[in-house]
Amino acid sequence: MEKSDIYNWLQEVEHPAKEGMNLLQLGMVDAVEVAQGRIHVTLAFPKRPDPLKNYLIGAAQACLYRHAPGGTEIEVDTIVKDPAKPAPKGIQFNLDQLREVSHIIGVASGKGGVGKSTVAVNLAVALARLGYRVGVADADVYGPSIPTMTGTEDATIEMYGEDENDNLFVPVEKYGVKWLSVGHVSGAGQALIWRGPMASTALKQIILQTLWGPLDFLLIDMPPGTGDIHISLIGDVPLTGAVIVTTPQQVALADVLRGVNMFRNPQVNKPIYGLVENMAWFTPEAHPEEKYYLFGKDGGTKMAADLDIPLLGQIPLVQGIREGGDEGAPVALLDRPDSQAFLELAKKLAASV
Ligand SMILES: Nc1ncnc2c1ncn2[C@@H]1O[C@H](COP(=O)(O)OP(=O)(O)OP(=O)(O)O)[C@@H](O)[C@H]1O
Ligand SMILES: [Mg+2]
Repeated sequence: MEKSDIYNWLQEVEHPAKEGMNLLQLGMVDAVEVAQGRIHVTLAFPKRPDPLKNYLIGAAQACLYRHAPGGTEIEVDTIVKDPAKPAPKGIQFNLDQLREVSHIIGVASGKGGVGKSTVAVNLAVALARLGYRVGVADADVYGPSIPTMTGTEDATIEMYGEDENDNLFVPVEKYGVKWLSVGHVSGAGQALIWRGPMASTALKQIILQTLWGPLDFLLIDMPPGTGDIHISLIGDVPLTGAVIVTTPQQVALADVLRGVNMFRNPQVNKPIYGLVENMAWFTPEAHPEEKYYLFGKDGGTKMAADLDIPLLGQIPLVQGIREGGDEGAPVALLDRPDSQAFLELAKKLAASV
């Protein structure tokens, strides 16, 4: 058993009142000690009483018992500590590297798994095909998917600059787009374990400590949810606006609203360029002219109207889109009907921005 195993396991314990964020994401795992046949974990709880405290302690214990070899002694205790610790000193961020970037657009959603990364990657490729200079920063520090989706997981990230403390990442260029992900920097396949403040720091490095050069669009593939990371990101990165991705089900409306409100809240107040309805209908690969509205028709149109934002595009559910993601060859590079959907989306976004 290594410490990293414990951190990995504890990612399974989610806080039911914090939109399914896990203990690690919430910065609640304060210390982990592993010795011969013994695990000791300290969980940090804020001063404000958490009614789920006992539940979380129990859940953490149960999780550790489940994974640890039989007979391991498991101890979980707590300390009082507000999880919002300041970012580690030593890294001073400034906005110099974004000087020549015209538009910084967050690709967000309220909910995970709706296809944010798929949309971000294909939208970037489509914008590049239209002649724009495009970069993508993968802000999903817990589950970065850009390296796989672009087939750049083996890329070596070069550093730019003489002074070790002042180095910049050089993004990977492929398909006419500049990509950078925490996954590139920390090595493919390696488990990513970040505690709250470390995660925000890593994220800021990916966006602010990178030699983007002149860009028309920098898309930011945001992590799922609307938690601390998002607030920190929106506070520190001068976003121009956002695109919200959703699937057509009505049940998703509440999630979408959370995503929208993240940008509409008066302190943030960033424009939302529009809604992208992903998986709007299913089209069998062999019959590209057929559309099956598995989740109902016009859900995206209705949702956009309810939220008073434009519907920027509709992307079909097509096997090839998933395969393109898995193989690192985005469909927006091709000339199929689903590729066209991304090109249309890119045109509408550019026009609206
Ligand atoms: N339009 C589509 N057609 C077919 N498959 C799709 C489509 N959109 C997304 N997928 C597939 O669904 C899965 C989830 O998509 P993706 O990783 O882009 O979602 P996400 O919102 O970024 O997820 P997370 O919240 O974990 O970051 C992937 O396997 C992807 O290939
Ligand atoms: Mg994603």
